[in-house]
Amino acid sequence: MTPTRVDVFRIPTRISFGRGVALTVATPLQQVGAKRVLVVTDKGVRDAGLVQPIEERLREGGFTYEVYDEVVPDPGVGEVQRCYERAREMRADAFVAVGGGSAIDTAKMAATLLANGGTVLDYVGIDKVPKPAAPVVAVPTTAGTGAEITINSVIADPEQHKKLVIISPNATALFALEDPEMTRTCPPFITAITGMDTLVHAIESFVCKNAYPMTQVLALEAIRDAGQALGAAVKDGADMEARERMMRAVVSASLAFSNTRLGNVHAMALPLGGWCHVAHGTAVAVLLPHVMDFNRTAAPEAYATVGEALGTKKDAQAAVKRVFQLNNEVGIKPKLSEYGVTEDAIPSMSKDAIQSGNILVNPRETKLEDIEALYRAAL
Ligand SMILES: NC(=O)c1ccc[n+]([C@@H]2O[C@H](COP(=O)([O-])OP(=O)(O)OC[C@H]3O[C@@H](n4cnc5c(N)ncnc54)[C@H](O)[C@@H]3O)[C@@H](O)[C@H]2O)c1
Ligand SMILES: [Fe+2]
Repeated sequence: MTPTRVDVFRIPTRISFGRGVALTVATPLQQVGAKRVLVVTDKGVRDAGLVQPIEERLREGGFTYEVYDEVVPDPGVGEVQRCYERAREMRADAFVAVGGGSAIDTAKMAATLLANGGTVLDYVGIDKVPKPAAPVVAVPTTAGTGAEITINSVIADPEQHKKLVIISPNATALFALEDPEMTRTCPPFITAITGMDTLVHAIESFVCKNAYPMTQVLALEAIRDAGQALGAAVKDGADMEARERMMRAVVSASLAFSNTRLGNVHAMALPLGGWCHVAHGTAVAVLLPHVMDFNRTAAPEAYATVGEALGTKKDAQAAVKRVFQLNNEVGIKPKLSEYGVTEDAIPSMSKDAIQSGNILVNPRETKLEDIEALYRAAL
């Protein structure tokens, strides 16, 4: 018999979770026999004091290491190249990424180039990376993109005004050390937008056409955790209960969406980064309630369940309303125009968005004019 549908669950990354787990960084490096390590981070994360304890553990473990702290937010093809060249110069055999999605994606792709040669442009798309990347131990400091777990990397191509997506089980971090303590210093606005990114991953995965019971259990748990803990984590960064719940949400949401894909919010967020330089978390947060409102008639039961998980009524419209409120509570402005987006960018962004594979799994069928209308509604 030919199966009509096959649900595959696959996570190549080994995930360790717990307060203080970042300090075990030497263990996975020893497991893969690493000797020469490039620590990939950015200046904000380094200034927050998050790299120094990692360096201590590397020294204690007898590793030769260097710190590359030149990662920029929303890194581009050129920045990955620079990081890769630094790794090659020091003859690195492994990477430790300490930071948000920007540092982690930079390290994942530099490690991919170290093992495969070429440039990022050779690997754009699905399953284009022939050999496994050099080992990456990812220590996220935001909660978060899930870049430490997912098989996706997002790299900007400023020439084409695009954010390129590389999707391959060979271009992932081998280990993720999920340590809520590492997010303690994350500033309120970064906490808000990266937390909303997690919530969007969970909601889009839960309602999308590829969802199935196992991914839905995970996504729903992530919606509950993020929906209930985000406000507290933004209000008081030292609230470790809230920080821990947010990081749990990242793990559950990432396990889910890695196996389902996402939806219109992510299809539309990448062009906002490419054309208008809106940070990923900001883009997804502003778009989410508009896309939910567009989708809810196609999946009313699923959106009603989302509403309940967010702590409001079991009702699709109430879910939309709750997300508008949540954005307001955590300090995200409701309009894209407040983040520098102008109407003249809508045609180009819409043409890019409609080509995303995420449109195909969105619960409501979506055409070019729908995407344009959604950008206008959020403008
Ligand atoms: N690979 C994926 O699956 C995936 C998914 C979504 C987004 N992304 C990409 O991830 C990038 C965004 O990552 P991000 O949102 O995590 O932000 P980021 O890595 O760009 O970091 C944002 C800022 O926060 C600061 N920061 C981070 N953690 C901190 C901490 N604990 N204390 C103090 N400062 C801290 C950094 O210094 C930086 O200035 C984008 O390039 C986006 O496209 C990737
Ligand atoms: Fe995202």
